[in-house]
Amino acid sequence: MSSRDEAQAAADEYRRLIEEAALAPEALPSDAFFGDAAEREVDAGNTAASHARPGINELQDERAAQDQADRAPLPIGVLLSGSGTNLQALIDAIDAGELNAEIKLVVASRPSAYGLKRAEAACIQTLTLSKETYADPIQADEVIAHELLAAGCEYVIMAGYMRMVHAPLLVTFPDRVINIHPALLPSFQGAHGIQDAFDRGVKVTGVTVHIANAVYDMGPIIAQRALVVEEGWDVDTLEEHIHAIEHVLYPEVVQMLADGRVHVRENLTVEVR
Ligand code: GRF
Repeated sequence: MSSRDEAQAAADEYRRLIEEAALAPEALPSDAFFGDAAEREVDAGNTAASHARPGINELQDERAAQDQADRAPLPIGVLLSGSGTNLQALIDAIDAGELNAEIKLVVASRPSAYGLKRAEAACIQTLTLSKETYADPIQADEVIAHELLAAGCEYVIMAGYMRMVHAPLLVTFPDRVINIHPALLPSFQGAHGIQDAFDRGVKVTGVTVHIANAVYDMGPIIAQRALVVEEGWDVDTLEEHIHAIEHVLYPEVVQMLADGRVHVRENLTVEVR
């Protein structure tokens, strides 16, 4: 098989997995979801009453075609569950004029998330979902997708969000849900990427920013940054270095999106233009 055929086969398999994993018809948002208040609240250009919302390439091309000075801040929502240092890095980059984005809404999966305090300190609207709401994860994602749309978000930035995202979010923001992972994917997937890499004794690890979809940690990779693990580091030292990279890389990737530079190819790899 040529490498092109292999890539195509991998992409087909990947699509099959996505379909199996979460995009079963019963998991999709109902027509009512797209037809009701959410439709009225989003801007006129984005109100087609169908499941087909603009994909990332279409929106990125639109931004790329605009003069830099005319590009409005990229409207984003941030999902988090914990301390929110990545949220803080985005807030700081915006304040420093290095990131042309506006955080319209911060969604927390738990009320104790310190990230909520950071959002409040920056006067950003927040939404905290209760355990009861999350009892039905699909319904929870319908609520989140609805609120993100109502707040005017075009992209969803996951920053330490310890929940799976499901069809309502993925379909509402096709290829526009972004995640950061503290390892070089596809290695060390899952919730303990730093510890797992450390325990395996890798000499190089790093950070990945990718498009999230139904197959966890497997979406198209937008950017990666490597880190050489030095002799004598313990896992805490490794973690500090990983976080330091994240806090630079995530704002950089969101700025790529703000500049319209991210294009997803047919074979589900990403070209940064
Ligand atoms: C980061 O390490 C990120 O890679 C992972 O969760 C952590 C979130 O940290 N997905 P914080 O809440 O942004 O401080």
